[in-house]
Amino acid sequence: MTVPVIQLQQVGKQYEMAGETFHALSDVSLDIHANEYVAIIGPSGSGKSTLLNILGCLDTADSGSYLLSGNAVASMAENQLATLRNQQVGFIFQSFNLLPRHSVLQNVMQPLVYRLMSAAERERRALAALQRVGLFEKKHHLPNQLSGGQRQRVAIARALVTEPAILLGDEPTGNLDSKTTADIMQLFDELHRQGHTIILVTHEQEIADHCQRVLRMVDGRLVADQRKQSHAGVLESAEQSMLQHTNNLASATRLLV
Ligand SMILES: Nc1ncnc2c1ncn2[C@@H]1O[C@H](COP(=O)(O)OP(=O)(O)OP(=O)(O)O)[C@@H](O)[C@H]1O
Ligand SMILES: [Mg+2]
Repeated sequence: MTVPVIQLQQVGKQYEMAGETFHALSDVSLDIHANEYVAIIGPSGSGKSTLLNILGCLDTADSGSYLLSGNAVASMAENQLATLRNQQVGFIFQSFNLLPRHSVLQNVMQPLVYRLMSAAERERRALAALQRVGLFEKKHHLPNQLSGGQRQRVAIARALVTEPAILLGDEPTGNLDSKTTADIMQLFDELHRQGHTIILVTHEQEIADHCQRVLRMVDGRLVADQRKQSHAGVLESAEQSMLQHTNNLASATRLLV
């Protein structure tokens, strides 16, 4: 078995508030492998965003250990961590977080600014990412000239442009209507089929239904980790039961003749 892209061991995060210690995360242990499609669900305040921010190296744990693609995050210097984050993680936020005065193309090129590559190469990669989310034609628009769903597609292209090991979304469809949510989920499904590892925080059951594994948080603890049968597995068992029916039918026919 390959090394998991994410390995958390007994991770904790606490905040001191008015002399009291509040445990936002307690004892979270978890492995996620390449090409898993994971939903993180749970009540408001249960620690979902705290966990996702740690996974995306936007925040650090206070205890326990976190290995991202085999790299121990806690022992890294700030600039090493920034590089690792830039290479390994694509983050997608509920509120899109696009630069308002920059074009769609400039927004998508932005994570490549720190890479040693020519401007032409940055542009080529950004255009390819826009093509993947179906927004090539809108490359010169400003974010406020786009619909909510299109803005989120730009944010997904920006997350994809660095070809990260994992895509993380914190309620990525939280600001979208149900039709647009369905479109964006189709895009995540497609990215998953293409081999991406996807982890989405969500309040919505329909979104969790797209994922193959559902992690449930309550009071900062991981209380359930449920894996669903894959679509391939479902098809396989349907095929097997059809075969069984055909065999039964054949033996019944033999008895009759
Ligand atoms: N900087 C902070 N200082 C103090 N407490 C914090 C801080 N950040 C988060 N918390 C607390 O940690 C807990 C978990 O917060 P988190 O944002 O992870 O919840 P969540 O599950 O994402 O909730 P929601 O579904 O509402 O987004 C909350 O009770 C929150 O108040
Ligand atoms: Mg949250």
